[in-house]
Amino acid sequence: MTQELWTAVDQYFTDALIAPDDALESALQASADAGLPSIQVAANQGKFLALLAQTIGARSILEMGTLGGYSTIWLARALQSGGTMVTLEYEPKHAEVARANFVRAGLADRIDLRVGRALDLLPPLAAEARPPFDFVFIDADKANIDAYFEWAIRLTRIGGLIVVDNVVRGGAVADANSTDENVQGVQRFFDRLNREPRVTATALQTVGSKGYDGLAIALVLSK
Ligand code: SAH
Ligand code: DHB
Ligand code: MG
Repeated sequence: MTQELWTAVDQYFTDALIAPDDALESALQASADAGLPSIQVAANQGKFLALLAQTIGARSILEMGTLGGYSTIWLARALQSGGTMVTLEYEPKHAEVARANFVRAGLADRIDLRVGRALDLLPPLAAEARPPFDFVFIDADKANIDAYFEWAIRLTRIGGLIVVDNVVRGGAVADANSTDENVQGVQRFFDRLNREPRVTATALQTVGSKGYDGLAIALVLSK
């Protein structure tokens, strides 16, 4: 079983489940044209995130790692009417592409895109007078995932969900001797999760057009 087959099955699911969509397709095209890396969630993963957000009736969402805004568009559309989201991106060029994609998608008024290092943007975000987030998607650099998760718990309401992308890394997460700082970041995150009483969490391995990876999901139980 190979990458080729995983990609074919993702294509099959996408054809079966996801209607052609101008805003999403032009967001991908504009991102590719601008030379952004093609590391956004797959369409069926984007819809999965949206479905989770809809399930809990999310009115406010936080995303770390915008890239060209593909996952952001999925999540922003999943908001209850009147809902808004905040998305954090370090690279000004990525943010510029994302901003144009949000305008084209008709979602600019629902999305607050902030440019900077997530670890610099999170303290001022936490200091703002705003209700806690219902849903957080952590998808920025992997070396800081453990710190992002700590902020996510702090910023999410009880009953809210935190989803962390890319926690398998081709299986490297299970290699205790890995010297990859991204893998070590994921491992520190799981160490923390193991000792974290405020959430209940699980993780799933996935294969698909994006290779062999996976995601973790945490439900906030207490603060
Ligand atoms: N969520 C996007 C993909 C994000 S890729 C999607 O699925 O469509 C990861 C993004 O995180 C990249 O755009 C990268 O520039 C950004 N990033 C890397 N380090 C960051 C940091 N310290 N703070 C905020 N964003 C960061
Ligand atoms: C990478 C980042 C991602 O968020 C992802 O989903 C896949 C790959 C990366 O940095 O390589
Ligand atoms: Mg990712």
